[in-house]
Amino acid sequence: MQEEELPESLSGQQQTRSFDGVNPRAADVLRRNGVKSWTKPAPSLYPHQWSWDSAFIALGLAHIDNRRATNELEALFNAQWSTGKVPHIVFNPEAPPKSYFPDAERWNSSALSEHAPAGPRTSGLCQPPVHAIAVRRIWQSAQNKDDERKERARAFLKSNYGRLFSWHRYLATARDPEGSGLVTIYHPWESGTDNSPRWDAALDRISVGEVPPYTRYDLQHVTDPSHRPTDNEYDRFLWLLELLKRARYDEADIYERHPFLVKDVLFSAILVAANEALLEISGVVEAPREDRGLIESWIERGRAGLEEQWDPDLGLCLDRDVLAGEPLRVRTIAGFAPLIGGGLDRSRLRDLLRTLDSQEFAGNSSLRYPLPPSTSPQEPGFHPRSYWRGPVWPVANWLLWWSLLRAGEEERADRMRHETLRELSEGGFAEYFEPFTGEALGSGEQSWTAAVALDMLAARDDD
Ligand code: SER
Repeated sequence: MQEEELPESLSGQQQTRSFDGVNPRAADVLRRNGVKSWTKPAPSLYPHQWSWDSAFIALGLAHIDNRRATNELEALFNAQWSTGKVPHIVFNPEAPPKSYFPDAERWNSSALSEHAPAGPRTSGLCQPPVHAIAVRRIWQSAQNKDDERKERARAFLKSNYGRLFSWHRYLATARDPEGSGLVTIYHPWESGTDNSPRWDAALDRISVGEVPPYTRYDLQHVTDPSHRPTDNEYDRFLWLLELLKRARYDEADIYERHPFLVKDVLFSAILVAANEALLEISGVVEAPREDRGLIESWIERGRAGLEEQWDPDLGLCLDRDVLAGEPLRVRTIAGFAPLIGGGLDRSRLRDLLRTLDSQEFAGNSSLRYPLPPSTSPQEPGFHPRSYWRGPVWPVANWLLWWSLLRAGEEERADRMRHETLRELSEGGFAEYFEPFTGEALGSGEQSWTAAVALDMLAARDDD
């Protein structure tokens, strides 16, 4: 049903109709990956519940089944730590043995930290806070429905507002003791862009100690191991995990001696955008005025922090290595963080769009579709098939598409949406894609890929 030759001038309505077949297929992926009240990110590679995957999944589900969307987030927030941290993995006790590593035993969170929940078993890390954005979508999509559904959505917002607020407060305090507006991550897994060259320099400085033996199960679920991070990267990932366990996941202890402390601009920008959503939610639930003041201050501080990390030569925003006291100069999609954070003046917006349209990203003439590779092909660390070192990720396209819309860049946003849907309709709901050939890579039937497709398809009705 695909029409490569669709003229760019077609209206969004017409484009939506031409992708009609994508919607039921995406809904099927989410149905098949469903487990009780939540959804696996992928059929076998990821058998547990992942935090930011679930947020995107709820965003997509909001258009087809509001109850499932709210259950998805409630299942995740039921595992929230008492510090406010939302763990990056909630383990599924019924997952097949030897299907995913590191497992709950390896993390051992509840034995090591009094802040971990006593019931569900979780990892000790967190991931970018897309959740409030999904909660707002649940609210928005209920608005044109019957009163009962609207009231159910309002009740959901009321019962979960406090959880969202304490999650954001945790990020604004424990993860930003300097008050910089930027979130510090303790592990590349927290960024969600695990093996991105963003982290190479910071990881290179770490000397890896004794890591207890382990077997990687991720490699058995992909057709080609080169799509996944390397063993060398895994050794570093596992060593950092050991160090976090030695610190008993104690924030002050980690801040004192952990060898990987990085201000992550993409994570921080998502927090700014999520705070905008939280501010709106706080209005719906009539939250105390002090909360609103705090959320507004986090937004302001976040945007100022991102501006501090602007690199005029690269035309991108850069992560900052806290320990080395320097920016990490690598051209990746994370550099578009200020676009996601929003509130830009015209000139900064122009700078970012120029970089986005350039040979370094979506304007590269060798690309199969004009969609930004996760790492610029002009970076030495670029690899077109390896996880976050180059492939195109639909979920990253969603972030940019949605941010372009918020910035009033409708034409660019429409192009990003159209090309993403074209890639998915031709290549399926893969986890990521080879940028020059469009070949589907990683796991197939990836839930968040299906979810962002649903949100893009519904945009004309809900936005
Ligand atoms: N993204 C990591 C993985 O692939 C950890 O959450 O397992």
